[in-house]
Amino acid sequence: MSHRAVRAPNDLRAFWMPFTANRQFKQAPRMFVAADGMHYTTSDGRKVLDGTAGLWCCNAGHCRPRISQAIAEQAAEMDYAPAFQMGHPKAFELANRLMGIAPEGMEHAFFTNSGSESVETALKIAIAYQRAIGQGARTRLIGRERGYHGVNFGGISVGGIVSNRKFFGTLLTGVDHMPHTHLPGRNAWSKGQPEHGAELADELERIVTLHDASTIAAVIVEPVAGSTGVLIPPKGYLERLREICTRHGILLIFDEVITGFGRTGAAFAAEKYGVLPDMITCAKGLTNGVIPMGAVLTTGAIHDAFMTGPEHLIELFHGYTYSGNPIAAAAGLATLEVYAEEGLFERAAKLAPVWEAALHSLRDCPHVIDIRNEGLIGAVELEPIAGEPTKRAFQAFLAAYDAGFLIRTTGDIIAMSPPLIISEAQIDELVGGLRKVLQKLA
Ligand SMILES: Cc1ncc(COP(=O)(O)O)c(C=O)c1O
Repeated sequence: MSHRAVRAPNDLRAFWMPFTANRQFKQAPRMFVAADGMHYTTSDGRKVLDGTAGLWCCNAGHCRPRISQAIAEQAAEMDYAPAFQMGHPKAFELANRLMGIAPEGMEHAFFTNSGSESVETALKIAIAYQRAIGQGARTRLIGRERGYHGVNFGGISVGGIVSNRKFFGTLLTGVDHMPHTHLPGRNAWSKGQPEHGAELADELERIVTLHDASTIAAVIVEPVAGSTGVLIPPKGYLERLREICTRHGILLIFDEVITGFGRTGAAFAAEKYGVLPDMITCAKGLTNGVIPMGAVLTTGAIHDAFMTGPEHLIELFHGYTYSGNPIAAAAGLATLEVYAEEGLFERAAKLAPVWEAALHSLRDCPHVIDIRNEGLIGAVELEPIAGEPTKRAFQAFLAAYDAGFLIRTTGDIIAMSPPLIISEAQIDELVGGLRKVLQKLA
């Protein structure tokens, strides 16, 4: 018998966990073994209220029978079809359904398997599009400080989260960054969009002046920056970015991996803020997080620019083995049906004021230095422990888990994004639980 065969099945060493303090986790594991609606069940049999929709992805709540059934049926009917040079009906149907909820002007969907892949895809399409329209010198990409666009090389290059970048070499060349929009001195305790900071978009004008517009392919931003700790766009900011991009022939990409599918109280943040980008990246809520899938939505103009040359030739040399995978497509279709039938995007919009009031009631809690919210997104920023950044929020995360509810922390910011099926009573339970945790924190 090889030494491999005797390893205990519950040995925690082999799995190198992503974005996790592995050593801490393996000393005191936190395991979920089941989920239903608004709750997870832990391996020691406790119910945990999900304040984060998994990782911002289970917008319709957990284990929805409609979605599970669609997956099972598709797996039995046809497990896989080649993604290149072959098709299957559900991928086309899902693309059409997506157009039904996407902002007016979006006409095509390119399928991927994750938010990171959606970002890489959008950046590549942007550069290739500029070349296709005779603007091949436009290769630069502009992101933003504190931006999160997944973990692949394009995404971390345009992204602006230092820890996600500093270990990984020189990244892509030809990338520049706009300043982030966090202005705690002026915008603390904002409800919805902050009043101040639209002028930060003018930094794009400065970058354009520095590099010249003729070298810039695209600007990518999260309409609401999520992973960095929830930064809501100041009033007028996205409009100004749009105006500058249009004036200079630069494509504007909204990374809606977390803001898509009802999170802000509209199908997409582009709709919520009334600003139409040239491309939208999405993932997560597309399949309710159940099966990995992402998509890049594009305007007709972008797609059509590629549709030239001999018709037997491939127009875009890009795609994944699992682009539009049948089981993912079935999950996506069932998910969109659940959203529509239960009016979950509208529900998020209706609950937003209740969520806002509940969150801001934590203002008097110890260590709290800011609270911000939009749709069913909320952040509570804590004063860091001197010399030990991130520790206070991590302690809050552990205490919350012990107390029966799931929150997320990034730096010293607590971020919450519950499934859109959350009830008003569960909002009170979540925020009330957090109050108790904050009151006990060192
Ligand atoms: C805005 C944004 N873009 C991209 C990603 C990466 O998505 P994934 O983890 O599915 O690759 C995320 C994940 O949180 C995200 O929030």
